[in-house]
Amino acid sequence: MTAKPKIILGIESSCDDTSAAVLVGNEIRANIIAGQAVHEKFGGVVPELASRAHQENIIPVVQTALQTAQISLSDLDAIAFTQGPGLMGSLTVGTSFAKALALALGIPLVGVHHMKAHILAHFIDDASDLKPNFPFLCLTVSGGHTQIVRVNDALDMQVIGSTIDDAAGEAFDKAAKMLGLPYPGGPLIDKYAQLGNPNAFEFAKPQIKDLDFSFSGLKTSILYTLQAAEKQEPNLRQDKRNDLCASIQNSIVSILMAKLEKAVKETGIQTVVIAGGVSANSELRKRLLAKKDAGWKVGIPKMSYCTDNAAMIAMAGSFYLAAGHTVGQYIAADPRLKW
Ligand code: KG4
Ligand code: ZN
Repeated sequence: MTAKPKIILGIESSCDDTSAAVLVGNEIRANIIAGQAVHEKFGGVVPELASRAHQENIIPVVQTALQTAQISLSDLDAIAFTQGPGLMGSLTVGTSFAKALALALGIPLVGVHHMKAHILAHFIDDASDLKPNFPFLCLTVSGGHTQIVRVNDALDMQVIGSTIDDAAGEAFDKAAKMLGLPYPGGPLIDKYAQLGNPNAFEFAKPQIKDLDFSFSGLKTSILYTLQAAEKQEPNLRQDKRNDLCASIQNSIVSILMAKLEKAVKETGIQTVVIAGGVSANSELRKRLLAKKDAGWKVGIPKMSYCTDNAAMIAMAGSFYLAAGHTVGQYIAADPRLKW
């Protein structure tokens, strides 16, 4: 007799999205995400406002997830929540809620690492065409992280390269800000880049050793290029917006792809997936897909599993639960949770 699939409620509140998801086996039955428009006018996430919005959203989001999945609280086998990394005030809302609910229901509680969950999202049934075999490489690219991870097993991951300064998402967002685009600018750069020439502007390329990344030089190079070109063309940031976006995107994606190619060469692992908010970027997805011609097996998650979501938290929770990695009521949110 096969075991009944576990039903897990996932809760994510690490940054500015409040999300709840219901996972049955490896199938997502609901993945509800409430974003927070309140930060737009500030050009970035304001931690105190994020925490307040999570407080308002958490109960309706969980209720909607359960209703959508047609699952009642008594059906749940476990609750998985994002323990870190992230913003303390934001994480605390999800952590406290998960602890209280698990205690009330008398079911296991699982603390999940947000970035590991981005990677494990690939194992959700409808995540992508590829269920990667171990070991595989994952480029995790978000607003706070840029890493190449060697995934030996769901519970055994090794960071083999990471950024020494800004994350790739931060580079997108800061460049977008220079162009007067609202936060988060990454998706807008992607959108306008479709209409522009990726070779119109050239920016400095980082010379960083090993598998590490750097984006701060690129940021300075974009600023200097804009300032120099504006002497001839004062409205450049508006008039050449599409070319600038295409060139910035081309630079960032080229930096990411170059290190990924190096990692494949050095490790001999040709199964490569991407995860995190920036994996929604169309150019990165296109260039990774093109690597199939070079013999790579590539995994590109569905858009709804790229940016922050609780589906990935529930999926990671399912691996942790199966391995007996549950936590007790002493657990606390950890903004700098280690790998
Ligand atoms: O993983 P995520 O949702 O949150 C963090 O954990 O940081 O990633 C958010 C980041 C932001 O920097 C956002 O600009 C970027 O992902 N992003 C994109 C795209 N969609 C989201 N960057 C480039 N192109 C996109 N299409
Ligand atoms: Zn994330």
